[in-house]
Amino acid sequence: MRRNLSEHDARRLLVSGPVVLVTTTWRGNDDVMPAAWSMPLSADPPLIGVAIHPSRHTHDMIRFSQEFALNIPGRQLLNHCQYFGSVTGRDTNKLEASKIPTFRARKIDVKLLDGCVAYIECGVEDILRIGDHSLFVGRIAAVSADEEAFNELWTLTDDDEKPLHYLGGSSYAILGSRLEARAPDPQSDAAKEETREAEERQRELEERG
Ligand SMILES: Cc1cc2nc3c(=O)[nH]c(=O)nc-3n(C[C@H](O)[C@H](O)[C@H](O)COP(=O)(O)O)c2cc1C
Repeated sequence: MRRNLSEHDARRLLVSGPVVLVTTTWRGNDDVMPAAWSMPLSADPPLIGVAIHPSRHTHDMIRFSQEFALNIPGRQLLNHCQYFGSVTGRDTNKLEASKIPTFRARKIDVKLLDGCVAYIECGVEDILRIGDHSLFVGRIAAVSADEEAFNELWTLTDDDEKPLHYLGGSSYAILGSRLEARAPDPQSDAAKEETREAEERQRELEERG
Protein backbone atom coordinates (compact mmCIF):
# COMPACT_ATOMS: atom_id res chain seq x y z
CA MET A 1 0.00 0.00 0.00
CA ARG A 2 1.27 3.48 -0.87
CA ARG A 3 1.04 6.31 1.69
CA ASN A 4 0.91 10.03 1.04
CA LEU A 5 3.78 11.81 2.79
CA SER A 6 4.64 15.35 3.80
CA GLU A 7 6.53 17.51 1.28
CA HIS A 8 9.45 17.41 3.73
CA ASP A 9 9.86 13.69 3.02
CA ALA A 10 10.91 14.42 -0.58
CA ARG A 11 14.41 15.36 0.56
CA ARG A 12 14.89 11.98 2.23
CA LEU A 13 13.45 10.08 -0.71
CA LEU A 14 16.06 11.75 -2.88
CA VAL A 15 18.94 10.18 -0.95
CA SER A 16 21.79 11.87 -2.71
CA GLY A 17 25.28 10.75 -3.53
CA PRO A 18 27.86 10.23 -0.83
CA VAL A 19 27.75 12.38 2.27
CA VAL A 20 30.69 14.79 2.18
CA LEU A 21 32.70 16.31 5.00
CA VAL A 22 33.18 19.96 4.03
CA THR A 23 36.48 21.28 5.36
CA THR A 24 37.27 24.98 5.44
CA THR A 25 40.02 27.28 6.71
CA TRP A 26 39.88 31.00 7.36
CA ARG A 27 42.54 33.08 9.13
CA GLY A 28 44.18 30.02 10.71
CA ASN A 29 40.89 28.49 11.95
CA ASP A 30 39.54 25.23 10.58
CA ASP A 31 36.05 23.78 10.46
CA VAL A 32 34.39 20.61 9.21
CA MET A 33 30.71 19.73 8.71
CA PRO A 34 28.90 16.88 6.95
CA ALA A 35 26.68 17.78 4.02
CA ALA A 36 24.23 15.40 2.39
CA TRP A 37 23.06 17.95 -0.16
CA SER A 38 25.88 18.03 -2.69
CA MET A 39 25.62 17.42 -6.41
CA PRO A 40 27.41 17.72 -9.77
CA LEU A 41 26.21 20.82 -11.66
CA SER A 42 28.29 21.11 -14.85
CA ALA A 43 30.73 18.87 -16.75
CA ASP A 44 32.56 21.57 -18.74
CA PRO A 45 33.49 23.67 -16.87
CA PRO A 46 33.55 21.15 -14.02
CA LEU A 47 31.30 22.56 -11.30
CA ILE A 48 29.70 20.99 -8.24
CA GLY A 49 27.21 22.39 -5.75
CA VAL A 50 26.69 22.05 -2.04
CA ALA A 51 23.64 23.48 -0.25
CA ILE A 52 24.51 24.96 3.14
CA HIS A 53 22.18 26.68 5.59
CA PRO A 54 23.23 30.24 6.50
CA SER A 55 23.22 29.31 10.21
CA ARG A 56 26.21 26.95 9.72
CA HIS A 57 29.65 28.28 10.65
CA THR A 58 30.87 26.61 7.45
CA HIS A 59 28.64 29.03 5.51
CA ASP A 60 30.68 32.02 6.75
CA MET A 61 33.98 30.13 6.44
CA ILE A 62 33.35 29.52 2.73
CA ARG A 63 31.98 33.01 2.10
CA PHE A 64 35.14 34.59 3.58
CA SER A 65 37.79 32.15 2.33
CA GLN A 66 36.15 31.51 -1.09
CA GLU A 67 37.29 27.88 -1.05
CA PHE A 68 36.33 24.51 0.45
CA ALA A 69 37.11 20.82 0.19
CA LEU A 70 34.72 17.87 0.04
CA ASN A 71 36.16 14.84 1.89
CA ILE A 72 34.21 11.66 1.12
CA PRO A 73 34.25 9.36 4.16
CA GLY A 74 33.80 5.60 4.33
CA ARG A 75 32.08 3.74 7.16
CA GLN A 76 35.10 4.05 9.49
CA LEU A 77 34.19 7.74 9.91
CA LEU A 78 30.47 7.06 10.53
CA ASN A 79 30.48 8.25 14.17
CA HIS A 80 32.76 11.20 13.43
CA CYS A 81 30.38 12.22 10.69
CA GLN A 82 27.46 12.32 13.11
CA TYR A 83 29.54 14.25 15.67
CA PHE A 84 30.68 16.84 13.08
CA GLY A 85 27.02 17.39 12.22
CA SER A 86 25.84 17.89 15.79
CA VAL A 87 28.28 20.56 16.98
CA THR A 88 29.12 23.92 15.46
CA GLY A 89 32.67 24.98 14.78
CA ARG A 90 31.82 28.44 16.05
CA ASP A 91 32.73 27.44 19.63
CA THR A 92 34.59 24.12 19.20
CA ASN A 93 37.54 23.16 17.06
CA LYS A 94 35.92 19.94 15.81
CA LEU A 95 38.93 18.92 13.73
CA GLU A 96 41.26 19.11 16.73
CA ALA A 97 38.73 17.42 19.04
CA SER A 98 38.30 14.51 16.61
CA LYS A 99 42.06 13.80 16.58
CA ILE A 100 41.72 12.71 12.94
CA PRO A 101 45.07 13.40 11.26
CA THR A 102 44.94 15.91 8.43
CA PHE A 103 47.07 16.75 5.41
CA ARG A 104 47.31 19.75 3.11
CA ALA A 105 45.12 19.98 0.04
CA ARG A 106 47.00 20.19 -3.27
CA LYS A 107 45.48 23.33 -4.77
CA ILE A 108 43.70 25.21 -1.97
CA ASP A 109 44.63 26.32 1.53
CA VAL A 110 42.38 23.84 3.37
CA LYS A 111 43.12 20.70 5.40
CA LEU A 112 41.93 17.29 4.20
CA LEU A 113 40.92 14.48 6.57
CA ASP A 114 43.03 11.34 6.60
CA GLY A 115 41.10 8.11 6.04
CA CYS A 116 38.54 9.41 3.55
CA VAL A 117 38.15 7.53 0.26
CA ALA A 118 38.11 10.58 -2.03
CA TYR A 119 38.65 14.35 -2.03
CA ILE A 120 37.42 17.26 -4.16
CA GLU A 121 39.06 20.68 -3.77
CA CYS A 122 37.04 23.71 -4.89
CA GLY A 123 37.19 27.44 -5.32
CA VAL A 124 33.88 29.32 -5.11
CA GLU A 125 32.42 30.09 -8.54
CA ASP A 126 29.08 31.44 -7.31
CA ILE A 127 26.76 31.58 -4.29
CA LEU A 128 23.03 31.33 -5.02
CA ARG A 129 20.35 31.79 -2.39
CA ILE A 130 17.82 28.99 -2.91
CA GLY A 131 14.94 28.83 -0.42
CA ASP A 132 16.44 28.66 3.06
CA HIS A 133 19.86 27.36 1.93
CA SER A 134 22.76 28.83 -0.07
CA LEU A 135 24.01 26.82 -3.01
CA PHE A 136 27.80 27.15 -3.09
CA VAL A 137 28.89 26.46 -6.64
CA GLY A 138 32.40 25.01 -6.55
CA ARG A 139 34.91 25.25 -9.40
CA ILE A 140 36.93 22.05 -9.14
CA ALA A 141 40.63 22.64 -8.49
CA ALA A 142 41.81 19.09 -7.73
CA VAL A 143 40.37 15.62 -7.25
CA SER A 144 41.88 12.45 -5.77
CA ALA A 145 40.60 9.04 -4.65
CA ASP A 146 41.89 5.76 -3.25
CA GLU A 147 42.65 3.40 -6.12
CA GLU A 148 40.82 0.53 -4.41
CA ALA A 149 37.73 2.70 -3.93
CA PHE A 150 37.46 4.37 -7.32
CA ASN A 151 38.62 3.33 -10.78
CA GLU A 152 36.70 5.49 -13.26
CA LEU A 153 33.61 4.48 -11.21
CA TRP A 154 33.14 3.53 -7.55
CA THR A 155 34.46 -0.04 -7.48
CA LEU A 156 32.19 -1.09 -4.56
CA THR A 157 34.36 -4.17 -3.99
CA ASP A 158 35.40 -3.63 -0.36
CA ASP A 159 32.85 -2.38 2.20
CA ASP A 160 35.56 -0.32 3.94
CA GLU A 161 36.26 1.51 0.69
CA LYS A 162 32.66 2.34 -0.16
CA PRO A 163 31.40 5.91 0.27
CA LEU A 164 28.96 6.57 3.07
CA HIS A 165 25.43 7.76 2.24
CA TYR A 166 23.13 9.63 4.62
CA LEU A 167 19.52 8.47 5.03
CA GLY A 168 18.40 10.94 7.72
CA GLY A 169 18.40 11.14 11.53
CA SER A 170 21.34 9.01 12.64
CA SER A 171 20.99 6.49 9.79
CA TYR A 172 23.57 5.93 7.08
CA ALA A 173 24.16 3.27 4.43
CA ILE A 174 26.71 1.93 2.03
CA LEU A 175 25.80 0.66 -1.42
CA GLY A 176 25.61 -3.07 -2.17
CA SER A 177 27.24 -4.11 -5.42
CA ARG A 178 27.51 -2.74 -8.94
CA LEU A 179 24.92 -3.85 -11.49
CA GLU A 180 25.81 -3.62 -15.16
CA ALA A 181 22.86 -2.68 -17.35
CA ARG A 182 22.40 -3.93 -20.90
CA ALA A 183 20.07 -1.96 -23.14
CA PRO A 184 17.20 -4.23 -24.25
CA ASP A 185 17.52 -5.47 -27.82
CA PRO A 186 14.38 -4.25 -29.61
CA GLN A 187 14.50 -7.35 -31.82
CA SER A 188 14.73 -9.80 -28.93
CA ASP A 189 11.83 -12.08 -28.09
CA ALA A 190 11.43 -10.46 -24.67
CA ALA A 191 11.04 -7.03 -26.23
CA LYS A 192 8.58 -8.37 -28.79
CA GLU A 193 6.60 -9.99 -25.98
CA GLU A 194 6.54 -6.68 -24.06
CA THR A 195 5.26 -4.85 -27.14
CA ARG A 196 2.58 -7.48 -27.67
CA GLU A 197 1.46 -7.18 -24.04
CA ALA A 198 1.37 -3.39 -24.25
CA GLU A 199 -0.71 -3.56 -27.43
CA GLU A 200 -3.08 -6.00 -25.75
CA ARG A 201 -3.49 -3.69 -22.74
CA GLN A 202 -4.16 -0.76 -25.07
CA ARG A 203 -6.79 -2.77 -26.98
CA GLU A 204 -8.48 -3.72 -23.70
CA LEU A 205 -8.58 -0.10 -22.59
CA GLU A 206 -10.07 0.96 -25.93
CA GLU A 207 -12.69 -1.78 -25.79
CA ARG A 208 -13.73 -0.67 -22.28
CA GLY A 209 -14.16 2.81 -23.70
C1 LIG B 1 24.88 13.52 7.85
C2 LIG B 1 24.52 14.97 7.92
C3 LIG B 1 24.31 15.68 6.76
C4 LIG B 1 24.04 17.05 6.80
N1 LIG B 1 23.85 17.73 5.62
C5 LIG B 1 23.73 19.07 5.66
C6 LIG B 1 23.64 19.81 4.43
O1 LIG B 1 23.67 19.26 3.33
N2 LIG B 1 23.53 21.16 4.51
C7 LIG B 1 23.49 21.82 5.71
O2 LIG B 1 23.38 23.06 5.73
N3 LIG B 1 23.57 21.14 6.90
C8 LIG B 1 23.71 19.80 6.89
N4 LIG B 1 23.84 19.10 8.06
C9 LIG B 1 23.90 19.84 9.32
C10 LIG B 1 25.31 20.42 9.62
O3 LIG B 1 26.32 19.48 9.32
C11 LIG B 1 25.40 20.78 11.11
O4 LIG B 1 24.49 21.83 11.38
C12 LIG B 1 26.82 21.15 11.54
O5 LIG B 1 26.88 21.08 12.97
C13 LIG B 1 27.25 22.54 11.09
O6 LIG B 1 28.54 22.73 11.54
P1 LIG B 1 29.26 24.16 11.49
O7 LIG B 1 28.39 25.13 12.25
O8 LIG B 1 30.59 23.93 12.18
O9 LIG B 1 29.40 24.53 10.06
C14 LIG B 1 24.00 17.73 8.06
C15 LIG B 1 24.18 16.99 9.24
C16 LIG B 1 24.42 15.62 9.18
C17 LIG B 1 24.62 14.84 10.45
